[in-house]
Amino acid sequence: MYTQRIYTDNAATSFPKPPCVMEAVNAYANDLGASAGRGAYREAMETGELLAEGRRRIARLINAESSETIVYAFNCSGALNMAIHGLLRPGAHVVASRMEHNSVLRPLHALMQTHDIRVTWIDADPTTGVVDVEAFNNALTENTALACLIHASNVTGILQDIARVGAACREKNIPLLVDAAQTVGHVPIDVQAMNVDLLAFPGHKAMLAPLGTGALYIRPGLENKLTPHIQGGTGSVSDEPVQPDFLPDKFEPGSHNALGIAGWVASLKWLEDKTIDAVRAHDLELSHAFINQTQGIDSLRVFGPTDPSARVSVFSVAIDGLEPAELAALLETEFGILTRPGIHCAPFVHETLGTTSAGGTVRLSFGIFNTLDDIAHCTQALAELAGAKVGG
Ligand SMILES: Cc1ncc(COP(=O)(O)O)c(C=O)c1O
Repeated sequence: MYTQRIYTDNAATSFPKPPCVMEAVNAYANDLGASAGRGAYREAMETGELLAEGRRRIARLINAESSETIVYAFNCSGALNMAIHGLLRPGAHVVASRMEHNSVLRPLHALMQTHDIRVTWIDADPTTGVVDVEAFNNALTENTALACLIHASNVTGILQDIARVGAACREKNIPLLVDAAQTVGHVPIDVQAMNVDLLAFPGHKAMLAPLGTGALYIRPGLENKLTPHIQGGTGSVSDEPVQPDFLPDKFEPGSHNALGIAGWVASLKWLEDKTIDAVRAHDLELSHAFINQTQGIDSLRVFGPTDPSARVSVFSVAIDGLEPAELAALLETEFGILTRPGIHCAPFVHETLGTTSAGGTVRLSFGIFNTLDDIAHCTQALAELAGAKVGG
């Protein structure tokens, strides 16, 4: 039994968080503890200022037009559902890729059943997972109500060409929803340059905030086309019994997760100091090392692109003759490596890769606190396990 623990499940949630994150959570809990917008006293005001600061920092990170375009959610799934359920009306046509996560697939399938929406699914390359952009753009018609494209796959790490799809969507005036669960905080994003209308993301993955944090960016003006599916108190226009129609209050009923957002503000400051370019450079270095060190290992399959610049450091692997659950268990018990086996909430991706019947793959996803030593340990472990399998 290996006692050291190497965390490689950053695509699920990042770990560890920078120490300043938990310090900020504690400071909020001990010194403020109030609900934003709910009281006239200093602590409630300061909590409101924390929320506002978080919006400003997020808006700056993704080059949003203003901080009001950032609507808090509890995770990326909440943000994606806010966009999909908010925008789609009965009979609507949607174009979506087969690389999407269940947090897009499931709301779409629910609306296929209840609202008769139609979805054109766009295939991806079976080796890399790159979506056929030409097919995607050709499928957009004047009746298309929404286009959905994931930024980076949570299975193969492949980055999709959002800007190219964004340009086609803008030309046809079709809102583009991007699932940036695996990219915000990992790679530079500019929603205006990329023509993104709706960007859904978690705070708790590469942005290094605590669990229970996420947000939806809504391009100014688009909020008028989105219906909120939860209504409630916002602390604003309280004399009105109807939901406010302005951002962000229209989509933020109820008390906020101020504990999580206090941590998020701290992690955003930490990321700003570090710079997103340095984070991306680290990610590229890890990908480069992982790809180089796994090339040529007999009976080990590594999915996704071999060009580090075409991906984030999310890797799916398989060893012939070992079930994903078995491989993950061996990696943990023999080498202390924490991974995620299975289908990764992405059934169409595994169909595309041809890995469904094998029970999926094992995913190793790296983060800002992983080192080149961690990569060497992981690739050595995979080589040993693959070698043992080949040797029988
Ligand atoms: C690509 C992708 N989209 C959406 C989600 C959902 O994120 P959350 O757990 O924050 O709801 C995940 C989570 O793993 C993901 O990888």
